[in-house]
Amino acid sequence: MPTAALRKDDVAPEPERFPIPAGVHAETVLSVEHHTDRLFSFSITRPQSFRFRSGEFVMIGLPNAAKPVFRAYSIASPAWDDAIEFYSIKVPDGPLTQHLQRIQPGDTVLMRQKATGTLVLDALSPARRLYMIATGTGIAPFASLLRDPETYEKFDEVVLTNTCRDVAELAYGDGLVESLAEDPLIGTFAAGRVRYVASTTREASPRTGRITTLIESGALFDTLGTAPFDPATDRVMICGSIDMIRDVRALVEAAGLTEGSNSAPGDFVVERAFVG
Ligand code: A2P
Repeated sequence: MPTAALRKDDVAPEPERFPIPAGVHAETVLSVEHHTDRLFSFSITRPQSFRFRSGEFVMIGLPNAAKPVFRAYSIASPAWDDAIEFYSIKVPDGPLTQHLQRIQPGDTVLMRQKATGTLVLDALSPARRLYMIATGTGIAPFASLLRDPETYEKFDEVVLTNTCRDVAELAYGDGLVESLAEDPLIGTFAAGRVRYVASTTREASPRTGRITTLIESGALFDTLGTAPFDPATDRVMICGSIDMIRDVRALVEAAGLTEGSNSAPGDFVVERAFVG
Protein backbone atom coordinates (compact mmCIF):
# COMPACT_ATOMS: atom_id res chain seq x y z
CA MET A 1 0.00 0.00 0.00
CA PRO A 2 1.51 3.36 -0.89
CA THR A 3 2.28 5.56 2.12
CA ALA A 4 0.26 8.73 2.20
CA ALA A 5 2.32 11.73 1.34
CA LEU A 6 2.60 14.25 4.21
CA ARG A 7 0.62 17.34 3.51
CA LYS A 8 2.74 20.48 3.55
CA ASP A 9 0.83 21.88 6.54
CA ASP A 10 1.51 18.84 8.78
CA VAL A 11 5.15 19.68 9.58
CA ALA A 12 6.51 22.72 11.32
CA PRO A 13 8.83 24.64 9.02
CA GLU A 14 12.55 24.24 9.79
CA PRO A 15 14.00 27.48 11.11
CA GLU A 16 15.94 29.11 8.32
CA ARG A 17 19.65 28.37 8.59
CA PHE A 18 22.16 30.84 7.30
CA PRO A 19 25.72 29.96 6.33
CA ILE A 20 28.45 31.31 8.60
CA PRO A 21 30.07 34.22 6.71
CA ALA A 22 33.70 33.77 5.66
CA GLY A 23 36.34 35.04 8.07
CA VAL A 24 34.08 34.74 11.11
CA HIS A 25 34.30 32.46 14.16
CA ALA A 26 31.06 30.70 15.17
CA GLU A 27 31.34 30.32 18.98
CA THR A 28 29.10 28.68 21.57
CA VAL A 29 27.42 30.63 24.37
CA LEU A 30 28.64 29.27 27.73
CA SER A 31 26.71 31.45 30.19
CA VAL A 32 24.30 34.38 30.30
CA GLU A 33 23.62 36.63 33.31
CA HIS A 34 20.90 39.28 33.34
CA HIS A 35 21.84 42.06 35.77
CA THR A 36 18.95 44.47 35.23
CA ASP A 37 16.26 44.92 32.58
CA ARG A 38 18.83 47.03 30.67
CA LEU A 39 22.08 45.14 31.22
CA PHE A 40 23.37 41.60 30.78
CA SER A 41 26.67 39.79 30.41
CA PHE A 42 27.53 36.56 28.64
CA SER A 43 30.50 34.39 27.83
CA ILE A 44 31.35 32.38 24.73
CA THR A 45 33.98 29.81 23.83
CA ARG A 46 37.32 31.19 22.68
CA PRO A 47 38.76 30.03 19.36
CA GLN A 48 42.29 28.71 19.93
CA SER A 49 43.71 31.03 17.31
CA PHE A 50 42.05 34.18 18.72
CA ARG A 51 44.53 36.66 20.21
CA PHE A 52 43.77 40.06 21.72
CA ARG A 53 45.23 42.60 24.12
CA SER A 54 43.24 43.32 27.28
CA GLY A 55 41.02 46.38 26.64
CA GLU A 56 40.43 45.70 22.93
CA PHE A 57 37.11 45.23 21.17
CA VAL A 58 35.88 42.78 18.54
CA MET A 59 32.90 42.72 16.17
CA ILE A 60 30.16 40.27 17.14
CA GLY A 61 26.84 39.26 15.59
CA LEU A 62 24.27 36.47 15.39
CA PRO A 63 23.72 33.84 12.69
CA ASN A 64 20.17 35.09 12.13
CA ALA A 65 20.46 36.61 8.65
CA ALA A 66 22.31 36.09 5.39
CA LYS A 67 24.14 39.35 6.14
CA PRO A 68 24.28 39.50 9.96
CA VAL A 69 24.46 42.77 11.87
CA PHE A 70 27.87 43.12 13.56
CA ARG A 71 28.63 45.58 16.37
CA ALA A 72 31.82 46.46 18.24
CA TYR A 73 31.98 44.94 21.72
CA SER A 74 34.77 45.48 24.21
CA ILE A 75 36.03 42.17 25.56
CA ALA A 76 35.44 42.09 29.33
CA SER A 77 37.56 39.03 30.06
CA PRO A 78 41.35 39.17 30.34
CA ALA A 79 43.65 38.04 27.53
CA TRP A 80 44.70 34.89 29.45
CA ASP A 81 41.16 33.55 29.94
CA ASP A 82 39.82 30.48 28.08
CA ALA A 83 36.38 32.06 27.59
CA ILE A 84 35.44 35.44 26.11
CA GLU A 85 33.11 37.62 28.19
CA PHE A 86 31.01 40.60 27.06
CA TYR A 87 28.86 43.10 28.97
CA SER A 88 25.95 44.52 27.01
CA ILE A 89 23.08 46.93 27.07
CA LYS A 90 19.63 45.69 25.95
CA VAL A 91 17.92 48.05 23.55
CA PRO A 92 14.34 46.95 22.72
CA ASP A 93 14.66 47.89 19.04
CA GLY A 94 18.47 47.74 18.82
CA PRO A 95 19.46 46.04 15.54
CA LEU A 96 21.67 43.55 17.39
CA THR A 97 20.71 43.65 21.08
CA GLN A 98 16.97 43.06 20.54
CA HIS A 99 18.04 39.53 19.51
CA LEU A 100 21.28 39.18 21.47
CA GLN A 101 19.52 39.72 24.80
CA ARG A 102 17.63 36.44 24.20
CA ILE A 103 20.65 34.17 23.75
CA GLN A 104 20.90 31.01 25.86
CA PRO A 105 23.80 28.67 26.66
CA GLY A 106 24.44 26.47 23.63
CA ASP A 107 23.45 29.15 21.09
CA THR A 108 25.90 30.43 18.48
CA VAL A 109 27.45 33.90 18.49
CA LEU A 110 29.53 35.11 15.55
CA MET A 111 32.82 36.87 16.18
CA ARG A 112 35.11 38.45 13.63
CA GLN A 113 38.73 37.36 13.77
CA LYS A 114 40.54 40.57 14.57
CA ALA A 115 40.44 42.44 17.88
CA THR A 116 41.53 46.06 17.95
CA GLY A 117 41.19 49.24 19.99
CA THR A 118 42.89 52.14 21.71
CA LEU A 119 42.09 51.30 25.35
CA VAL A 120 45.28 49.30 25.72
CA LEU A 121 48.28 49.60 28.01
CA ASP A 122 50.55 50.00 24.97
CA ALA A 123 48.90 53.35 24.15
CA LEU A 124 49.90 54.88 27.51
CA SER A 125 53.35 56.03 28.57
CA PRO A 126 54.57 54.85 32.00
CA ALA A 127 53.31 56.65 35.11
CA ARG A 128 52.41 55.93 38.72
CA ARG A 129 48.60 55.86 38.67
CA LEU A 130 46.03 54.72 36.09
CA TYR A 131 42.49 56.09 36.19
CA MET A 132 39.82 54.00 34.46
CA ILE A 133 36.76 56.22 33.97
CA ALA A 134 33.63 54.23 33.08
CA THR A 135 29.94 54.94 32.66
CA GLY A 136 27.33 52.26 31.91
CA THR A 137 28.66 49.36 29.82
CA GLY A 138 31.87 51.35 29.37
CA ILE A 139 33.25 49.36 32.29
CA ALA A 140 33.70 46.28 30.06
CA PRO A 141 37.25 46.92 28.81
CA PHE A 142 38.31 47.76 32.37
CA ALA A 143 36.96 44.40 33.54
CA SER A 144 39.53 42.93 31.16
CA LEU A 145 42.40 45.23 32.14
CA LEU A 146 41.80 44.91 35.88
CA ARG A 147 42.32 41.15 35.52
CA ASP A 148 45.54 41.49 33.53
CA PRO A 149 48.82 41.25 35.51
CA GLU A 150 50.45 43.67 33.04
CA THR A 151 48.27 46.49 34.37
CA TYR A 152 49.91 46.09 37.77
CA GLU A 153 53.36 45.71 36.29
CA LYS A 154 52.95 49.05 34.57
CA PHE A 155 51.14 51.06 37.27
CA ASP A 156 51.51 51.21 41.07
CA GLU A 157 47.89 52.17 41.61
CA VAL A 158 44.66 51.78 39.65
CA VAL A 159 41.53 53.87 40.23
CA LEU A 160 38.30 52.57 38.71
CA THR A 161 35.37 54.98 38.57
CA ASN A 162 31.97 53.51 37.73
CA THR A 163 29.00 55.84 37.23
CA CYS A 164 25.55 54.50 36.37
CA ARG A 165 21.98 55.71 36.46
CA ASP A 166 20.95 53.62 39.48
CA VAL A 167 22.37 51.35 42.16
CA ALA A 168 21.39 48.08 40.43
CA GLU A 169 23.47 49.08 37.40
CA LEU A 170 26.59 49.34 39.57
CA ALA A 171 26.42 45.64 40.48
CA TYR A 172 28.61 44.37 37.64
CA GLY A 173 31.44 46.73 38.64
CA ASP A 174 30.98 46.05 42.36
CA GLY A 175 31.19 42.30 41.71
CA LEU A 176 34.24 42.73 39.51
CA VAL A 177 36.17 44.66 42.14
CA GLU A 178 35.17 42.20 44.88
CA SER A 179 36.26 39.25 42.74
CA LEU A 180 39.78 40.65 42.22
CA ALA A 181 40.81 39.87 45.78
CA GLU A 182 39.76 36.22 45.43
CA ASP A 183 41.24 35.76 41.97
CA PRO A 184 44.06 33.19 42.24
CA LEU A 185 46.08 34.87 39.49
CA ILE A 186 45.35 38.56 40.06
CA GLY A 187 44.66 38.67 43.81
CA THR A 188 48.27 39.20 44.82
CA PHE A 189 48.91 41.83 42.13
CA ALA A 190 45.75 43.79 42.87
CA ALA A 191 45.89 43.62 46.68
CA GLY A 192 45.79 47.15 48.09
CA ARG A 193 46.39 48.74 44.69
CA VAL A 194 42.86 49.08 43.25
CA ARG A 195 40.72 52.01 44.40
CA TYR A 196 37.03 51.97 43.44
CA VAL A 197 34.77 55.02 43.24
CA ALA A 198 31.15 54.27 42.28
CA SER A 199 28.40 56.84 41.85
CA THR A 200 24.81 57.06 40.66
CA THR A 201 23.02 59.88 38.91
CA ARG A 202 19.32 58.98 39.00
CA GLU A 203 18.98 57.24 42.37
CA ALA A 204 20.20 58.12 45.84
CA SER A 205 23.31 56.14 46.91
CA PRO A 206 26.37 56.75 49.11
CA ARG A 207 27.88 58.83 46.28
CA THR A 208 25.82 60.66 43.69
CA GLY A 209 26.81 62.74 40.67
CA ARG A 210 28.27 62.43 37.20
CA ILE A 211 31.99 61.70 37.06
CA THR A 212 32.49 65.06 35.34
CA THR A 213 30.93 66.79 38.37
CA LEU A 214 33.07 64.75 40.77
CA ILE A 215 36.21 65.72 38.85
CA GLU A 216 35.31 69.40 38.52
CA SER A 217 34.31 69.79 42.16
CA GLY A 218 37.41 67.97 43.33
CA ALA A 219 35.25 65.42 45.18
CA LEU A 220 36.91 62.52 43.32
CA PHE A 221 40.39 63.58 44.44
CA ASP A 222 39.22 64.38 47.99
CA THR A 223 37.78 60.87 48.23
CA LEU A 224 41.04 59.33 47.03
CA GLY A 225 43.32 61.70 48.91
CA THR A 226 45.16 62.48 45.68
CA ALA A 227 46.05 65.68 43.83
CA PRO A 228 44.01 66.51 40.68
CA PHE A 229 45.06 64.89 37.36
CA ASP A 230 48.74 65.51 36.70
CA PRO A 231 50.55 64.42 33.52
CA ALA A 232 53.66 63.71 35.61
CA THR A 233 51.95 60.96 37.62
CA ASP A 234 48.56 60.08 36.10
CA ARG A 235 47.25 58.27 33.03
CA VAL A 236 43.56 58.09 32.16
CA MET A 237 41.43 55.65 30.15
CA ILE A 238 37.87 56.77 29.34
CA CYS A 239 34.98 54.59 28.14
CA GLY A 240 31.28 55.48 27.95
CA SER A 241 28.82 57.40 25.80
CA ILE A 242 29.94 59.93 23.20
CA ASP A 243 28.83 62.84 25.39
CA MET A 244 30.61 61.50 28.46
CA ILE A 245 33.82 60.97 26.49
CA ARG A 246 33.67 64.49 25.08
CA ASP A 247 33.20 66.02 28.53
CA VAL A 248 35.80 63.94 30.39
CA ARG A 249 38.26 64.43 27.53
CA ALA A 250 37.91 68.21 27.93
CA LEU A 251 38.68 67.91 31.65
CA VAL A 252 41.79 65.76 31.25
CA GLU A 253 43.06 67.94 28.40
CA ALA A 254 42.54 71.01 30.57
CA ALA A 255 44.75 69.28 33.16
CA GLY A 256 47.51 69.04 30.53
CA LEU A 257 47.19 65.37 29.52
CA THR A 258 47.69 64.50 25.86
CA GLU A 259 46.00 61.71 23.95
CA GLY A 260 47.96 58.53 23.23
CA SER A 261 47.64 55.88 20.54
CA ASN A 262 49.14 52.51 19.74
CA SER A 263 51.84 54.14 17.61
CA ALA A 264 52.43 57.14 19.89
CA PRO A 265 51.77 56.37 23.58
CA GLY A 266 50.47 59.31 25.59
CA ASP A 267 48.67 60.32 28.80
CA PHE A 268 45.07 59.32 28.04
CA VAL A 269 43.00 57.19 25.66
CA VAL A 270 39.26 56.99 24.91
CA GLU A 271 36.83 54.44 23.48
CA ARG A 272 33.11 54.70 22.93
CA ALA A 273 30.99 52.08 24.69
CA PHE A 274 28.77 50.10 22.37
CA VAL A 275 25.08 51.09 22.03
CA GLY A 276 22.18 49.12 20.51
P1 A2P B 1 22.76 60.93 33.72
O1 A2P B 1 21.89 60.01 34.49
O2 A2P B 1 22.87 62.30 34.35
O3 A2P B 1 22.43 60.99 32.26
P2 A2P B 1 23.86 55.78 30.13
O4 A2P B 1 23.36 54.54 30.80
O5 A2P B 1 22.81 56.65 29.54
O6 A2P B 1 25.01 55.52 29.18
O7 A2P B 1 24.49 56.68 31.30
C1 A2P B 1 25.46 56.14 32.15
C2 A2P B 1 25.91 57.24 33.08
O8 A2P B 1 26.63 58.23 32.34
C3 A2P B 1 24.74 57.95 33.75
O9 A2P B 1 25.04 58.05 35.13
C4 A2P B 1 24.73 59.31 33.07
O10 A2P B 1 24.26 60.36 33.86
C5 A2P B 1 26.20 59.50 32.77
N1 A2P B 1 26.44 60.50 31.74
C6 A2P B 1 25.70 60.75 30.64
N2 A2P B 1 26.21 61.77 29.92
C7 A2P B 1 27.31 62.18 30.58
C8 A2P B 1 28.26 63.22 30.35
N3 A2P B 1 28.19 64.02 29.28
N4 A2P B 1 29.26 63.35 31.25
C9 A2P B 1 29.34 62.57 32.33
N5 A2P B 1 28.46 61.58 32.61
C10 A2P B 1 27.46 61.38 31.75
